[in-house]
Order: sequence, then structure tokens, then C-alpha cells
Amino acid sequence: MSQLSATSQVTDDQMRRYAKMIYDVAGIEISPAKKQLLSNRIRRRLKQTGIVDFEEYFKYLSKLPTSHEEWDGFLQEVTTHETYLFRDESNWKWLRGEFIPAIQKAGSNSLRVWSAACSTGDEAYTIASCLAEDLRNPSGWRIQIVGSDIGIGAVRDAQEARFGERAMRLVPDTIKTRHFKRVGEANIWEPNSKLRAMTSFRQHNLLDRISGPPFDLVFLKNVLIYFNNESKKRVISNIEQAMKPGSFIVAGAAEGIGDLMGGFNRIHPWLYQRK
Ligand SMILES: C[S@@+](CC[C@H](N)C(=O)[O-])C[C@H]1O[C@@H](n2cnc3c(N)ncnc32)[C@H](O)[C@@H]1O
Repeated sequence: MSQLSATSQVTDDQMRRYAKMIYDVAGIEISPAKKQLLSNRIRRRLKQTGIVDFEEYFKYLSKLPTSHEEWDGFLQEVTTHETYLFRDESNWKWLRGEFIPAIQKAGSNSLRVWSAACSTGDEAYTIASCLAEDLRNPSGWRIQIVGSDIGIGAVRDAQEARFGERAMRLVPDTIKTRHFKRVGEANIWEPNSKLRAMTSFRQHNLLDRISGPPFDLVFLKNVLIYFNNESKKRVISNIEQAMKPGSFIVAGAAEGIGDLMGGFNRIHPWLYQRK
């Protein structure tokens, strides 16, 4: 069988089957209008694997467990990983101006935060740097910031934690100089050991329940925009189960979850508190 040309596309039937497979595994909806885009992305995997056509690749993927690294390579192609530190100013104003002062006033000394769909970890390190900067006595706290993502490649990048100028461009100067260090000649920044000690990363699919003690704060941003209502519902229910009563979700402004938040009080369009 000959190699596909650079412009060849999946058939309508293959498009339907690929879209269903992606939806079943990750909850992400791919519209039929994305046929060319999806074909281009799959073609990159064909090149990597040496598989000759879309049908063979579909059969190959269908037989693999989703923990296989080819699934990671495939999902990496069909998902968006865009992220950077201090994304969405209003979130950080709230965290630093209201949330952190409130937990200090309450006299707590432990905090569990989840950066759900953390991509390369930028959000988790933003949370860690705000806590390191603003808590009066951060070393007296037990802080656990758990970052999770469906993509193992993203999780590995988050564990490595090397951020370029673009990812760092909104980090306030005081935080940048006190909690990050520049490495090598290039403009690459790494979090210091205190931020690293607060953070851990793991692979996790939001369609499944996460294990471990409940969280005080969850960030759920720029991921459910690709999900339909049914998979959004499932994710929200899984997350709700993993949260303490009175804990908060910081959501993306375009997440489209307003109607699904019966178990929460809405504080802002992007901030909910578990009842
Ligand atoms: C655009 S990034 C968002 C990163 C960060 N939350 C932010 O707002 O900057 C979306 C991430 O969602 C992840 N993702 C997509 N579907 C997922 C699923 N079912 N479970 C967990 N993560 C998922 C992707 O791998 C990607 O890294």
C-alpha cells in the first residue's frame, strides 16, 4: 500500500469513528468541520509509527490500551496545550487579595489544591509562587498542589518545569526574582526548590474520579470548552466528589458550566464555592 499524500483526508465514516473514539476516551468533541485538521494531525502519527493509512491507524489505536504511549502521542495531537503563568489576572487578584488572606485569618496550616488539566504545569507553579510570596510563614504550612493532565508528555514537562520567556511574561518581577531562577544562557526559568516541594504531577483523565484526600481549591480552566454537556457533567460530578464542603473552583470564563453547578454557589462567572 502506498503512503498517503500530504492533502489526503479521512473519509466521513472514518471521521465519525475517530471522533467517537476521541470522545469516548477523553470527553473531547471534534466537529465534522475539523476533518482536514484531524487528518493533518493523524498524518503526523502515521509518519511517526510507519503506519500507511488512516484505517490501519484507527484499527491499531482501537486495540491499544489508552495507557499506551501511542495514545499519548495521538491525544497530544488532538488537544490544545496552550498555557502560561499568571493566565487570567482576575483569578490571581482573587487568590492573593481574598483567598490567601482568608485562609490565614482562619488559622489553618494545611492546603490541598488541584490544577486539573494542568498541561505543562504553569498554573500549578503560579499557585505555588503566590502562596510562597504571600503566606506569612509558608514553611509552617503543609501545602500540596496536585497538577494532573491526560497527557503523560505534558505531565513530564510539568515535572521538569522549565519555562521560556513567553510562559513567564506575566509573572510579576518580585515573584520572578524571588521564586524562580534563570538557567543557562537561554531565557529559561525554573521554579526554586520550595515551589517544587509544594507541587506534584500525575496523569489523570477527568472522566475518571481522582483518588486521595479532598481539595480546598480546584483550578479547572480551558479544558471543558472542548467537551459536550454530557462529559462536562461527568467531570463536574467527579470534581465535586473530590472537594471539601465550602471549597472553591476557579473555572475558565468560557468553560460553559454555569448550568451544571447545582452543588455550588456562583461567586463570579469564573468562581464557584461548593455548598
Ligand atoms: C489548554 S490546556 C489548559 C491548561 C491550563 N489549565 C490553563 O488554563 O492554562 C488543556 C489541557 O487539558 C488536557 N485535557 C484534555 N482532555 C482531558 C481529560 N479528559 N482529562 C484531563 N486532561 C485533559 C489537555 O491534555 C491539555 O493539556
